[in-house]
Amino acid sequence: MSNSPLHIELIQPDDWHLHIRDGEVMKDVLADTAQQFARAIIMPNLKPPVTTADLAKAYRTRIESNLKSLGISSFTPLMTLYLTDNTSADEVHKAKAEGIVAFKLYPAGATTNSDAGVSDIKRCYKVLEAMQSVGMPLLVHGEVTTAQIDIFDREAVFIDTVLEPLRKDFPGLKIVFEHITTKQAAHYVRDAATPSNTLAATITPQHLLMNRNAIFSGGIRPHHYCLPVLKREEHRVALLEAATSGNPRFFLGTDSAPHAKGDKETACGCAGCYSAFNALGLYAEAFESVGKLDKLEGFASFFGPDFYSLPRNTKKITLAKQAQKIPAELPLGNDTIVPLRAGETIAWSLI
Ligand code: NCD
Ligand code: ZN
Repeated sequence: MSNSPLHIELIQPDDWHLHIRDGEVMKDVLADTAQQFARAIIMPNLKPPVTTADLAKAYRTRIESNLKSLGISSFTPLMTLYLTDNTSADEVHKAKAEGIVAFKLYPAGATTNSDAGVSDIKRCYKVLEAMQSVGMPLLVHGEVTTAQIDIFDREAVFIDTVLEPLRKDFPGLKIVFEHITTKQAAHYVRDAATPSNTLAATITPQHLLMNRNAIFSGGIRPHHYCLPVLKREEHRVALLEAATSGNPRFFLGTDSAPHAKGDKETACGCAGCYSAFNALGLYAEAFESVGKLDKLEGFASFFGPDFYSLPRNTKKITLAKQAQKIPAELPLGNDTIVPLRAGETIAWSLI
């Protein structure tokens, strides 16, 4: 494959970290994702959170009925449960039996809708033991929430104070370090001496394409605010290096996190970037920027299912170097949403 082909053919990718919310808005965001991806890991941070297998089943049914009304039969939601201080080990077995694919650890207060999250991971040791024994992956929002820790250091401190001790106590637990944003996280995952297939990380398009200057360029840019927050350029470079390295521990997870325009453009705006509209085009741009388009298929289509022990997709899709204007706003239920790169032209489109 040449460095800048006009077309790239890929096995259809999946999105291993996605927020689609609930109710009125769900079908709008689901349609964007289902146009590109065959499957997606559906995050459980609803209000109230999806904490039990029964709640996850009901959520899956609502997703399926939205897919049906959109006329989409080619997309599979992969459900997750929200871990709390009170989750029982029994719930792990119920979840496994229901085909729920993972549990999500939100440190309490770390991000959008995480108030019911875990206050101290030690409270969850019985659940983690059960997860380890049945091969249920733990997906972690890797930031400490201590107010004294600088927001730009929260991920690095999480590695030392939570993740490393956790991995020592549960060496066989499958862990995905979600939406990594720092050099420390990229190197930690790359260098971990771990039994194969127990540690991986997802990387978002915004963290591959932007550094923290993007939050403040010419004024405050609420649509570039997500958590974990964008970091310095040296971190972006390390993430891009990791994503394009061909190392199967790194795979695609957009963390597309829809919030209505008014909830972003306000005095205390919500965290989250909406990247689902043309996420694959954004990833292609990032990979092309370092001449590594040949590594996109592994990152986007192979390493995720391999980690989760799911079959790879078989259908192919084509990305073309065909400029596409991203709309300034998109419908979101009765509101609108401002997608990443709103009003700009991006080079790659799905055809
Ligand atoms: C996510 C959301 O809005 O649900 N926000 C974000 O900034 N990424 C939550 C999360 O994944 O942290
Ligand atoms: Zn997320």
